[in-house]
Amino acid sequence: MQAEDRLIVALDFPTGEQAKALVRDLGPAVRFYKVGMELYYAAGNEIIKFLKDQGKQVFLDLKLQDIPNTVAGALKVLTALGVDIINVHAVGGPKMLQAARAAVTEQAAALKIQAPRLIAVTILTSMDAAQFAALNYKNTIPEQVVALARLARECGLDGVVASPLEAAAIRQACGPDFLIVTPGVRPAGAAQGDQSRVATPAGAIKNGASHIVVGRPITQAADKKAAAAAIVAEIKNVK
Ligand code: C5P
Repeated sequence: MQAEDRLIVALDFPTGEQAKALVRDLGPAVRFYKVGMELYYAAGNEIIKFLKDQGKQVFLDLKLQDIPNTVAGALKVLTALGVDIINVHAVGGPKMLQAARAAVTEQAAALKIQAPRLIAVTILTSMDAAQFAALNYKNTIPEQVVALARLARECGLDGVVASPLEAAAIRQACGPDFLIVTPGVRPAGAAQGDQSRVATPAGAIKNGASHIVVGRPITQAADKKAAAAAIVAEIKNVK
């Protein structure tokens, strides 16, 4: 995979116009975008169509979690949009994950389109040890992340969203083809914001991430194109 295809820029904006302006500004420097809840609720399918028309890959980050039947129905609708990656919460449990897998595969086959890669969120990268303790799980964060990644794999999912700090353990547990998409990526010296479990772009790739998601370090930079190019250059150099 080329470095340019491993950087996913998070379009966390309240309007489609702001997102489109950034995409136009970044131009060919960025090939992959993430549309999350804020932008999707504001701009809906129109922003997905805009990105696809621009030849971009799209990760639709809606983090679905509900009863299996509801998630399956929603994923059938989202699969028809022709996005490249789509996701659910692993804590929805095995039945939900299996139903999600079946829905995406069946819908893509019915529409004769390539199925989007279906990945599961393990533990949010904003979660630190104190917040995690409040949830009363019996495992530590790394143990829980690896357990959820194994579960996602057993249920036929294509990968997970996780912190770069857990990427190495997931890579070891889930094999070379499993997607590991890591937000919580901060170039050296960048503000951490609300992220807790962070690494640099090169650090995330070294740890085994297949893709890195970067939002504010690019979208809030004075020179956004230079910020994106610097990150691509940094991950290109990872051996
Ligand atoms: O601005 P920043 O680089 O922190 O953006 C990270 C993006 O990745 C946000 O859109 C956030 O919703 C998303 N994300 C995350 N942690 C996860 C899953 C998604 O930060 N576990």
